[in-house]
Amino acid sequence: MGKNKLEKFAELKEMSNVFEKDGQMKGKWNSHYFKNQGKITLELACGKGDYALGLAQLFPEDNFIGMDIKGNRIWTAATRAGDHNLENVCFIRDQIDHLADYFEPGEVDEIWITFADPFLQPGRARRRLTSPKFLEIYKPILKKGGVINLKTDSDLLYQFTLETIQELGLKIIHNYPDIYQSKVTHLTYDIQTYYEQKHLKNGLTIKYVSFTY
Ligand SMILES: C[S@@+](CC[C@H](N)C(=O)[O-])C[C@H]1O[C@@H](n2cnc3c(N)ncnc32)[C@H](O)[C@@H]1O
Repeated sequence: MGKNKLEKFAELKEMSNVFEKDGQMKGKWNSHYFKNQGKITLELACGKGDYALGLAQLFPEDNFIGMDIKGNRIWTAATRAGDHNLENVCFIRDQIDHLADYFEPGEVDEIWITFADPFLQPGRARRRLTSPKFLEIYKPILKKGGVINLKTDSDLLYQFTLETIQELGLKIIHNYPDIYQSKVTHLTYDIQTYYEQKHLKNGLTIKYVSFTY
């Protein structure tokens, strides 16, 4: 029988690849955790960590950190990393709003935001992970020229992100309204998360935009 939530939450506290509301590695991810000088990529709203795990397997020289507030999903992500002996990936369980507690200015090379909740009601737009509020949180921790990648099934979140990019004068690098119908191929685009697979089965198109400050 599988473990219940309480058992998973207890295990989370003992997992060496999980930082639960614990910013002890701030400014020291490479020197004290990964113990190398690899690039650091964050997956925000990582859920079960599919992108972080997929990228960690594709790029063993680089480092990957997934962040989400849901403890049972982080447990799954961290357990899968252990099962695959992946030492270049770990996970933070906390609100993304608290990112500044975890990273020094310029400590992060790249960010992926994967199938984040679109928060459909206009009154909740500030909670969208590409709202001006969140883009202000990411800006200091990202290296100069660092890229933010958004993959989403949501037309609303995609359009909102494009409008926010324009409003804030950010620079688009790539923009595909239907990534699997576009002619582009890139190893990193092909990783499919748990939610992405569900949306594809339901016939939704997957949108992708990357941008920088
Ligand atoms: C629809 S799920 C996507 C999970 C995963 N990326 C995937 O594609 O399978 C959205 C995730 O975003 C997380 N999330 C949304 N807002 C968050 C926030 N402010 N801080 C931390 N996690 C957040 C939720 O807990 C949830 O796991």
